[in-house]
Amino acid sequence: MTQNNETPQTEMPIPPRRLWPSKLFVETTTRCNLRCRMCVKETWDRSTMEGEMSDETFAVLESAFPHLEALVLNGVGEPLLDPRLEEFISRAKMLMPAGSWVGFQSNGMLLDGARAVSLLEAGLDRICISADALNPETFRQIRRGGEEQGVERALVALHEAKERCGRPDFQIGLEFVLMRDNTRELPDLLRRAASLGASFAIVTHVLAYAESSGTQTAFESNMDGAVELFNEWRNKAESEGLELANYFKVLWKYMRTPSEQELAGFLAEFATTASLDEGLDKVREIMGSSLPSKQITIKSFADTRGQLQQLFGDDQGWRDALERLFAVLGDPELRGDSGFGRAEALIRSWKEGVANGEACLADYLTVIWKYSRTPKEQRLYDLVEEMKAEARSRDISLHLKNLMARDEEWAAEMERVFAEARTVALETGLALTLPGIAPVSSRRCEFVEGGGAFVSWNGNVHPCYFLWHQYGCHLFGRKKFVNAKSFGNLSESGILDIWNAPAFRAFRDDVLAYDFPYCSNCNVVPCQYLKAEEFEQDCYGNTVPCGDCFWCMGVFNCLQ
Ligand SMILES: C[S@@+](CC[C@H](N)C(=O)[O-])C[C@H]1O[C@@H](n2cnc3c(N)ncnc32)[C@H](O)[C@@H]1O
Ligand code: SF4
Ligand code: SF4
Ligand code: SF4
Repeated sequence: MTQNNETPQTEMPIPPRRLWPSKLFVETTTRCNLRCRMCVKETWDRSTMEGEMSDETFAVLESAFPHLEALVLNGVGEPLLDPRLEEFISRAKMLMPAGSWVGFQSNGMLLDGARAVSLLEAGLDRICISADALNPETFRQIRRGGEEQGVERALVALHEAKERCGRPDFQIGLEFVLMRDNTRELPDLLRRAASLGASFAIVTHVLAYAESSGTQTAFESNMDGAVELFNEWRNKAESEGLELANYFKVLWKYMRTPSEQELAGFLAEFATTASLDEGLDKVREIMGSSLPSKQITIKSFADTRGQLQQLFGDDQGWRDALERLFAVLGDPELRGDSGFGRAEALIRSWKEGVANGEACLADYLTVIWKYSRTPKEQRLYDLVEEMKAEARSRDISLHLKNLMARDEEWAAEMERVFAEARTVALETGLALTLPGIAPVSSRRCEFVEGGGAFVSWNGNVHPCYFLWHQYGCHLFGRKKFVNAKSFGNLSESGILDIWNAPAFRAFRDDVLAYDFPYCSNCNVVPCQYLKAEEFEQDCYGNTVPCGDCFWCMGVFNCLQ
């Protein structure tokens, strides 16, 4: 048979474009025997959010099992509290294809020899025991209600069951949630887990659900590429005897005559008059600008010198402009006597000043950008401008304030701990997954790429961990509300119907385009798009909320 008349080989589509999910994450219970301080459950109203998956719901999942590469039987909650766990495992194993695996994460407290054997006999392939400290005191502070000996007991029981059941393929792992106060325990805990039979370890940063966990966040907000570029330019500046950290001092160093100073003062006052807190947010939203707030207000209605001339040249011009400005700000109060009247009086007095040959409002742009810098300061300013230009050309978002405020000592300490952890992994043969110290800019959503679907105890089907539940979290000083995103409920449709529904398919395609912004590096985060009660779109027009998600940036990991 020639090349030409061979039957064409149709390639298997990538997992998110298949007609079935390749991985299912199934939460059979959300109940738990511990109260870990960083767990999302600590922020829940348990009476409304806890429950067990019904047998009927689990049965609806069976149509997906013959296609699965992996079934992970946990969400929030402790799987070992569910007495049906072994039955679920064996039902799934009967239908799942060769080479696929069933696993779950557990706090391990309920794992004794008998339970370990029954899990292996049911067909369990992988288990990941959660432990975040070796030191008993730290362990108890984090995993409230648990004991570090419980983890040791679980690991020993699993190792023995593996031997007893003749299952050398069975994999025992450890999951470590990295926080500022347990980071240094990582290498010792890895060594201990490996000595007790663990063959893999997953390390994740903490997602701060509770406000108190916010200070425990160990990764930084600046992305890897931004940190690298910033460090290069800082070294360059240092080689010229300059410090990038002085940039903002230099940036705002003005050279103005007294009358120009007065003009700038007026404009600042005018802008402040017009831009009450809420109004300013609106202007920022409309402008999408990272300009300092005082300039945004003025620039929002007069963008060029010509417009400014027009604006302040005749009465109707600036009256119209004020109306436009107040309409943008949207506050009826501002349009009333106090706001408008005050702005009008200020402008009138300045127009009189113009008539007397004093500074002119139309000089605003000249004045606002008139700086007094020494040649060294100017060089520093220019260096930063060059750095920003390079960042733009390489599509790297820079958040200068955050970059200059980096906790470098901490980043270096994490590098040191991670290097030690890698050495332990090499010495013990542990397969180690470490998170990034900084979020990576080359994003990849493993959940969508892997063809994952997430099923809550109540039968709702979600696209990823981030959107599995409703919660609040604390990201670098701001509180974020996340609404669960569900594409259907198993009491109404089959899992394959939900997976193939146009909305779920479109969601996956939109994620795979990776065309969303980097919200954590945006100067106006959280903008009105992110503050909306129900996320509708970001500033690029994407309807997927991935621009403000760290899961695709390599700082969070889980069993998958
Ligand atoms: C929610 S638990 C459910 C399974 C089981 N109860 C356990 O603790 O292993 C799944 C994993 O998430 C981890 N985890 C809990 N809170 C977290 C947080 N705030 N950020 C990152 N991982 C977290 C747990 O340590 C565990 O390894
Ligand atoms: S054991 Fe797991 S589910 Fe339970 S509180 Fe701790 S992290 Fe949350
Ligand atoms: S959607 Fe994100 S990147 Fe866009 S303006 Fe809002 S915070 Fe900034
Ligand atoms: S929100 Fe995050 S985890 Fe969810 S699909 Fe988007 S990138 Fe992936």
